[in-house]
Amino acid sequence: MGADHGASPGSAAARLIAWHKRHGRHDLPWQGTHDAYRIWLSEVMLQQTQVSTVIPYYQRFLKRFPTVQALAAAPLDAVLSLWSGLGYYSRGRNLHQAAGILVERHGGRMPHDPALVQTLPGIGRSTAAAICVFAHGGRHAILDGNVKRVLARYCGVRGYPGDSAVQEILWRKAEALLPPPGKSARNIISYTQGLMDLGASLCARRNPQCGQCPWRADCVARLRGLTGSLPEKKPRAALPQRSTVMLLLRNAGDILLEKRAARGIWGGLWSLPEVEHAREARAAAAQRYGVRVLAARTVPGIDHGFTHFKLRIEVMLLDVERPTRAARRARTAAAASPPVAWLPLAEAVTAGIPAPVRRILVSI
Ligand code: ADE
Repeated sequence: MGADHGASPGSAAARLIAWHKRHGRHDLPWQGTHDAYRIWLSEVMLQQTQVSTVIPYYQRFLKRFPTVQALAAAPLDAVLSLWSGLGYYSRGRNLHQAAGILVERHGGRMPHDPALVQTLPGIGRSTAAAICVFAHGGRHAILDGNVKRVLARYCGVRGYPGDSAVQEILWRKAEALLPPPGKSARNIISYTQGLMDLGASLCARRNPQCGQCPWRADCVARLRGLTGSLPEKKPRAALPQRSTVMLLLRNAGDILLEKRAARGIWGGLWSLPEVEHAREARAAAAQRYGVRVLAARTVPGIDHGFTHFKLRIEVMLLDVERPTRAARRARTAAAASPPVAWLPLAEAVTAGIPAPVRRILVSI
């Protein structure tokens, strides 16, 4: 996408293979075998789990169930007890079920076609491809979580990789970058393991070590300063929109503040009185605060963002006559009414009020 991926010496695949030979991992317990059962087991255990956690589980599991036949013949409970501590137990259940299918329908042999492998329980498109690469030397693209990150950066793919359209683009990139057909099986294995290793080491989510990367010369994210923003994050769901109407009761330069309840948003702060609809403003002012409304008009409101919702605040400015002393006394006697204060505007602005209310006060 834009950058010339042919510009640096050697194809991307050739550079990755050379890098993997020197810097990649070569001594993991599932490397150096073409036993599809062992490779399949490793790929399933490595879904959502780190290499260092997997290794002891992998070795214990193979000791107890050295072949797909042994696994298929075992009771599910025995399988799950060896899985205990690895988490995501559906992986263990699916593995056991798939072992049964392989023994019954495929003579205990893993098919060579990833499309067929993918029909087995617990095996997605990328895992099926990885099994067929490592076990049979097949030329197939993988796209696990780490590889999505590497390719989103290298190819400059925008959008959230969990989005199916973005994922489709990444699959096409993954296929286009494969070493050419006809090369040795060693090449595709080294390439695939290199891609995994790059994602697990240099091309980390945070602080990627681009200086040592075999793809640094033509990595779109690096060239455009986008390593921090690719891959893009999941778009946030739109926040619910709420609204309120605040009343600015004004008399001779003073305004009315009301103390909010201790609980809920802006608990315990001084604020402006609120009503649900502007049409209630006049009646509410008279009833709650004993004022006589002389004039009322709307003034520009504001929008305020909370973590879980957005609040549209309409503002009604009411010029009023202060309540009579009798009305004030009657109000104070009513137990449930919150404290109110008439303050000069300049003083109200410095009181303990919510930031959006301060914005409203300074704007009038
Ligand atoms: N993660 C998934 N598959 C892997 C593999 N074969 N080696 C290392 N990490 C992996």
